Amino acid sequence: MERTLVLLKPDALQRGLVGTILTRFEAKGLKLIALKLRCFSPSLLEQHYAVHRERPFFKSLVEYMSSGPVVALVLEGKDAIAVVRRLVGATNAREADPGTIRGDFGMSFSNNLVHASDGPESAEFELGLWFPEAAEICEWDPCDLSWRYNVAEELA
Ligand code: CMP
Repeated sequence: MERTLVLLKPDALQRGLVGTILTRFEAKGLKLIALKLRCFSPSLLEQHYAVHRERPFFKSLVEYMSSGPVVALVLEGKDAIAVVRRLVGATNAREADPGTIRGDFGMSFSNNLVHASDGPESAEFELGLWFPEAAEICEWDPCDLSWRYNVAEELA
């Protein structure tokens, strides 16, 4: 099982899309194992987006992400990082495929509703940054796990 970090950005909250977006992840069969809503500090967001520090949009990205509440969550599942990236869609919401979260609900490149870790290394870094305490993660077994996956082939 793999874990990935997802952020519901301030535009998702302002536009009342938190429940709708969470439903996409839940309905897919991903397991929610941590969730918190907070106005996070510019310094945390600068660390989170440090790889973009030299990009021209870095300052406005940090301002946007610290302009209001963000929901941070951890999802778990087989190949969760790639599965979540496909559900979220392309960075530019205007070009994101219909059926993806950004493709269905967004019109902006920068205000694109959701962030999701883009690979195992960034997931490890981001999970440690946003959920540093082990107690924030809840280990639990969905009662229908053996129906979400083929036990013999995928959970052996
Ligand atoms: P995210 O997937 O969180 O990763 C970096 C973020 O930078 C991206 O979503 C957008 O919110 C933002 N961004 C703004 N402009 C650009 C751009 N030109 N290229 C990539 N990301 C951008």
